[in-house]
Amino acid sequence: MKTVFIKELVANDNLIDQEVTVKGWVRSLRKSKAFSFMVVNDGSSQLNLQIIVDGSTPNYEEVSKLLVGSTVIVNGVAKASQGKNQSVEIQSKSVEIVCANTDDYPLQKKATSFEFLREIAHLRPRTNSFGAVFRVRHTLAKATHDFFHNNNFYYVNTPIITGLDAEGAGEMFRVSTIDLNNIPHTDKKEVDFAQDYFGKETSLCVSGQLEAEALALALGRVYTFGPTFRSENSYTSRHLAEFWMVEPEVSFCNLDQVATLAHDYLKFMAKSVLDSNPNEMDFFNQRIEKGLIEKLQSLVNSEITKITYTEAVKLLENSKKKFEFPVKWGIDLQTEHERHLTDDIYKGPVIVTDYPKKIKAFYMKENDDGETVRAMDLLIPGVGELIGGSQREDSYDKLLNRMNENKMNVAPYQWYLDLRKYGGAEHSGFGLGFERFIMYATGMTNIRDVIPFARTPKSAEF
Ligand code: 4AD
Ligand code: MG
Repeated sequence: MKTVFIKELVANDNLIDQEVTVKGWVRSLRKSKAFSFMVVNDGSSQLNLQIIVDGSTPNYEEVSKLLVGSTVIVNGVAKASQGKNQSVEIQSKSVEIVCANTDDYPLQKKATSFEFLREIAHLRPRTNSFGAVFRVRHTLAKATHDFFHNNNFYYVNTPIITGLDAEGAGEMFRVSTIDLNNIPHTDKKEVDFAQDYFGKETSLCVSGQLEAEALALALGRVYTFGPTFRSENSYTSRHLAEFWMVEPEVSFCNLDQVATLAHDYLKFMAKSVLDSNPNEMDFFNQRIEKGLIEKLQSLVNSEITKITYTEAVKLLENSKKKFEFPVKWGIDLQTEHERHLTDDIYKGPVIVTDYPKKIKAFYMKENDDGETVRAMDLLIPGVGELIGGSQREDSYDKLLNRMNENKMNVAPYQWYLDLRKYGGAEHSGFGLGFERFIMYATGMTNIRDVIPFARTPKSAEF
């Protein structure tokens, strides 16, 4: 008796007429006197398996009354199926009831809204939509490791607890063991972090970039892939307080080269989901976003599209579209502007480069014009910003100036400056918001629905 996953059973003709065991959850049950049709899903793929339970089964009474979502272990013989929706079915010999659900189970057959499902995030992975999302999420994570490994990158792990603000934007969650009911103060009446766990003020990382730079300037090409945290109060469909970021960092690499790397990485991920998850992609294509498969295929075959920030501003200024936020050189592009570029003008991903230095982080390399930096944002239709990256300032003096201009406390960043003093090199990198790419790849329109348990302002359930 061999325990098999439904995905293996469907793929292997040589299991036909073999006795197998399948373990999973009842999706539906249609009963008659002589036998019942029980449909089971085991999570291994989008595909369900039909079980024909014979009326002579010893516990037939109980089995035929099973409610949706109940757990079963079925033993029986795999048979080629005549049904048009399946290639294999099981003629059962025995059905063990592991957990019989009651009729108050919140996931009934009728369609439920994504909003409602967010409230039962512990059960929603059992639905078709969320099973598909989380399987695609896995494929994209694996594709990420494959892509970078194939391109001579090393996977490194940067710290999650940090004393630095890598983006200089002040959107950090504090990490502290100070007793909030008895906060120690210095003579100057400031909180005395010297008495805190690490002897200084610490937070959860907003990015692993600064430490990744140290590793890239030793290992050549590295990437991080881990959780990052931002306390920005953005209550939007594309912001999470805890999200996963993929951050490659490359020595001996300029902005153009890292932009090409980003584009190649997206193509690789798109191809991976199309190849690895055909059933999930069919499901999304039919139920979530019409034309999704075609969209991803055209990404796989696409050429890179790059424009400068200055060109983007001209395009937006000359556009007939009325924007809520008026466009002029120097503004940070708003979602409506980014969407107009990707959805209306280019109808695909666009990389915008060379932003004004005033709106970008301190570590980006200044251009000769003294006004712009070697930054890039990769924008995608429907989502907006997917990637933020740059060539890093590799001059010690310019970087120090920039930090002073931004009124940063330089001392904790001395090690980061030293990377420019000892064995420095031209280097570049980017960060990809992993959940935002999953949105693009699945057509899901709310970022809360592509991570198992979302953390957003005023919400940290489960
Ligand atoms: O553009 P960001 O802030 O860039 C950095 O953090 C750089 N240090 C990365 C680097 O060069 N190594 O963030 C990178 C990406 C964004 O483009 C976006 O996709 C995603 O991270 N992101 C978020 N995703 C979900 N929720 C949030 N609150 C996000 N903030 C950023
Ligand atoms: Mg950004």
